[in-house]
Amino acid sequence: MSARKHPEAPKVRGVKSVETRHYEERAELFRALGSLDRRSFLKVAAAAAGAALASGVDIHRQSFSTVSVAHAAKEEKEAFTFAYISDSHLYKRSLNDRFVNSLLRAVDDVNALDPQPDFVLYGGDLAQLGQPEELDLGAEILKNVKAPVRMMVGEHDWFLDMGEKWKALFGSETYSFDHKGVHFVVLQSVNEKDFWTERGMTPMERMLTVAGLDNGIQSRFEVGKEQREWLKADLGHLEKSTPLIVFSHSPLYHYYEPWNFWTVDAPEVQKLLERFASVVVIHGHTHQMLTHRVGNIHFHGMLSTAWPWPYAPEGLPKLTVQMNRPDPFDPHDGCGDGQVTVHPDGLVDKLYALWNRNPMEVSSAYMRARGGKEKPAAPNLASF
Ligand SMILES: [Fe+2]
Ligand SMILES: [Fe+2]
Repeated sequence: MSARKHPEAPKVRGVKSVETRHYEERAELFRALGSLDRRSFLKVAAAAAGAALASGVDIHRQSFSTVSVAHAAKEEKEAFTFAYISDSHLYKRSLNDRFVNSLLRAVDDVNALDPQPDFVLYGGDLAQLGQPEELDLGAEILKNVKAPVRMMVGEHDWFLDMGEKWKALFGSETYSFDHKGVHFVVLQSVNEKDFWTERGMTPMERMLTVAGLDNGIQSRFEVGKEQREWLKADLGHLEKSTPLIVFSHSPLYHYYEPWNFWTVDAPEVQKLLERFASVVVIHGHTHQMLTHRVGNIHFHGMLSTAWPWPYAPEGLPKLTVQMNRPDPFDPHDGCGDGQVTVHPDGLVDKLYALWNRNPMEVSSAYMRARGGKEKPAAPNLASF
């Protein structure tokens, strides 16, 4: 059986580039995914990466640098790293395999990290329309991540069956854990007020409504009272000096309401976090480089593996290192994955591993100085 060409692969007079061959191999892998065990997957992935390296073509490009790891070794012996992959928006494989290939690429990236991260955070929106086939496909691919994976849910995973399938695959959507002296909390920040019952919507109509961010029908996201009470109790036993990192799919501050880059009760959640010396919130949903600080809380967005959203027209938080408009002819531009180095005080160096550009690091020193020093360099490609 001949492999189908990746739609973005370069073509030069009938000669297949290494990248084309790489994508073809990945397409084969994708087709066989259901029957591959973990060991076979890793073997195929390693072979593809090895072939690329041998030809001098960087298939992984500059997705991950050792910048964060170097920081850790030099400054803080106790620092550790975790990687993230987010917002893959998988469709059924019969409809779209581009986003599947992007998620496979991110899995390759994190599996190639040396040393390996302590864990990988998946930032939500694994599926596009919450369908069982989409979520099963995502779960199957994520099984091949070598490091432990911590899951977070996004609105695209949730609103078809209100999280039933996602929870069956991945467990509770709200939980906390401790790792190397840091307390981690994972929230479900995409609850909405019931706009569907009164309108007599089917589950798919509800899902499609939420998937369209600016339809004017749905309510804004919220963490909700029940989870805020859970959070208050969860944090209750901690000293205020405890390093705290919160994962939420939507930003826990008010960014841009018309697109639902917004969590209504973010100020109330912030209140629960304000007694801690410093807090880091890592969020998905916005699909862009985005950095903010409110008092003691440092916010960092995650890149999507599927597509970048444009920036909100109202303007950006001032600590954001603005990514120029991505190249509309390169579907990978503005996409990527990333890595977070956690220092003993809980502050982080946040690496945006852009697939088509140099990696961008927003350091803890930049955040501590409120932008006054260690300002990251601008992205390395022109605006389009
Ligand atoms: Fe998303
Ligand atoms: Fe989202």
